[in-house]
Amino acid sequence: MSRTHIFAVAGHPVLHSKSPLLFNKSFQKLKEKAVYTRISTESASEAVTLFEEIGLSGLNVTAPLKQAIIDQLDELEPAASVIGAVNAVLKERGVLKGSNTDPLGVTASLKSLGLSLQGRHCVVLGAGGAGKAAAYGLVREGARVFLVNRTYRKAVLAAEKLGCDAVYLDELPSLMNEANIVVSALAPRINLIRKEWLHPAHVVLDANYPHSPLQNLARAQGCTYIPGEAWLLNQAIPAYKLFTGKEADRAIMERALSFGFGTTTRRNNISLVGFMGCGKSTAGLALAKKLGYSFKDVDAVIEEREGKTIPEIFHLKGEERFRSLEKSVLAEIEQERRTVYACGGGAVSDPENRSTLRSNSRVIWLYAALGACLQRIDPRSRPLLDKEGRGEKTEELFRKRLPLYAQAADLVVSSEKKPEQTAETIYEEIHHTLGD
Ligand code: S3P
Repeated sequence: MSRTHIFAVAGHPVLHSKSPLLFNKSFQKLKEKAVYTRISTESASEAVTLFEEIGLSGLNVTAPLKQAIIDQLDELEPAASVIGAVNAVLKERGVLKGSNTDPLGVTASLKSLGLSLQGRHCVVLGAGGAGKAAAYGLVREGARVFLVNRTYRKAVLAAEKLGCDAVYLDELPSLMNEANIVVSALAPRINLIRKEWLHPAHVVLDANYPHSPLQNLARAQGCTYIPGEAWLLNQAIPAYKLFTGKEADRAIMERALSFGFGTTTRRNNISLVGFMGCGKSTAGLALAKKLGYSFKDVDAVIEEREGKTIPEIFHLKGEERFRSLEKSVLAEIEQERRTVYACGGGAVSDPENRSTLRSNSRVIWLYAALGACLQRIDPRSRPLLDKEGRGEKTEELFRKRLPLYAQAADLVVSSEKKPEQTAETIYEEIHHTLGD
């Protein structure tokens, strides 16, 4: 049987990313054995370590990793090399290769309005990974591009490589007067444009969603506004082709984009899943404290109700009975609010459990390498492990579970650090996504 391919988008914050929606809807429609999730990390080397260890088939990269990831890769495709940023990573014959589909994300979004880009004056705000990709794409279409960055020197260096002009921030008002197109690729919530500089002839595209500071200004001034979701969609379609070798289902992806994130739908619960010993209970407790949530350790609840330890339940009643107890404790999450759940390592094996967890909580997969997991537990306390711990059976179980965790997870966080740090990463993600 062919394996399930696992894909992800890595960055921080990343829980707001709609890439999983786009890809998973297309995978389902085209019956691909594949799943797409999110990896929260600010470290390019951690992103690549997780790529290798989980055995990803492809990785999208978002802020703040688009430039930093380059040092971790073996090869760059020409556009990524000129831009100096990557938004898609692929492993081909053992070689880690970086590509960039962001230029297409920008140009296809603008062209979808029937615009010709040839000779147009474009202001690109931000000389980070996204801004440079936008400038590259627009220059290739024959546009005249003016790159603006708060640190002017950074704009100059980028403009030299990309064949466009670097412009001082204080020239922005006069530049805006002559511009046809404004592309903002600044960090979320940052805006350099004043309302009065915008006029109805401007076409404005903001990389950011769902928090675009430009959106209200552009709409108020009667500009044509293109939301960041269009950019997302138009870079995802070529990334899908890179990753799978097949054409994405554009209509399905477009429809997926209209699904909201919803702050109340999952009752604010958080479920931690992951292999035995990955740190769900310790990080879970730390997270619950930070958030002021209740904490529930599913195994501890089972042990208390049965008056027996997990190995005793397995020994006396068998795994099947344990799974049915586990399932009924998990089902109670439907009544819970503001609770962090630490789930047993095998909870995700049952598709109904996965669906219960996904409908009632944000599901976070704590990933630690098998060696790190086994260091934290006594194999005798885990009936499913080889007696001595690190045998073939354990290794096989670990591998077999990877796609199941990925299918369950809204987010992957490395837990090979102190529980408080793991909890902090999750806390930041939750706050960024749901905090306002
Ligand atoms: C299991 C993991 C254990 C416990 C039981 C089965 C599994 O929980 O539920 O031994 O199938 O992986 P932890 O993941 O908390 O160790």
